[in-house]
Amino acid sequence: MRIDVVTIFPEYLEPLNISLVGKARARGQLDVHVHDLRDWTYDVHRTVDDSPYGGGPGMVMKPEPWGEALDAVIGKGPAGEVPTLVVPTPSGRPFTQELAQELAGRPWLTFTPARYEGIDRRVIEEAATRMPVVEASIGDYVLAGGEVAVLVMVEAIARLLPGVLGNAESHRDDSFAPGAMADLLEGPVYTKPAEWRGRTVPDVLLSGNHGRIARWRREQAFARTLANRPDLVARWQYGAFDKKEREA
Ligand code: ADE
Repeated sequence: MRIDVVTIFPEYLEPLNISLVGKARARGQLDVHVHDLRDWTYDVHRTVDDSPYGGGPGMVMKPEPWGEALDAVIGKGPAGEVPTLVVPTPSGRPFTQELAQELAGRPWLTFTPARYEGIDRRVIEEAATRMPVVEASIGDYVLAGGEVAVLVMVEAIARLLPGVLGNAESHRDDSFAPGAMADLLEGPVYTKPAEWRGRTVPDVLLSGNHGRIARWRREQAFARTLANRPDLVARWQYGAFDKKEREA
């Protein structure tokens, strides 16, 4: 997968060089290019923002640098291909595991993290005439800019790419993964030693009885979901858990 990011803070994206995403890049599974939006400004101050039409607080990102940046980025891909444009914004559709999965299936993504009050709307509208556009929010809070949202989304997407995670099974039971455990949070996990600071690991996990272990994990997942995410409970479908039980 190819990923382009256009930003006024390229250094904000440096974490893409480390850990899971960094290794995926080193292995050639991810081809990441970070661009400085100010490379497409021509005044001495390298201006990217201006005051909003209609008044109001804050500044709006000017359309010209973004338009030229997107023209240039599109030109860098395979001839005739266009990326999916991912615009991080608190007014976007929720970035969920499902959306991560959908985006992980695309060969080329371009992210446009904004600062200030956002990007002149015409940039998004014009881009949408040339490429698929997804405006995405990583949660109901407002960040100082979209760069951190890009880090979040790229990491969630990268770990779904074939071969990126060591163990292909390891995202199967993730909280929010589609399938039998959909809409259930993952329960608690334990490793050695069996006793630590007077606290022991639940006996069932040492029992070797895989049916009991699967049932216990499901109960823990239910309890955790009820406590932490009652909104998800409304989406529970008995059939999915019934199927899991039969497999266990
Ligand atoms: N930019 C600022 N806040 C954001 C959010 N919650 N999600 C995505 N992009 C953002």
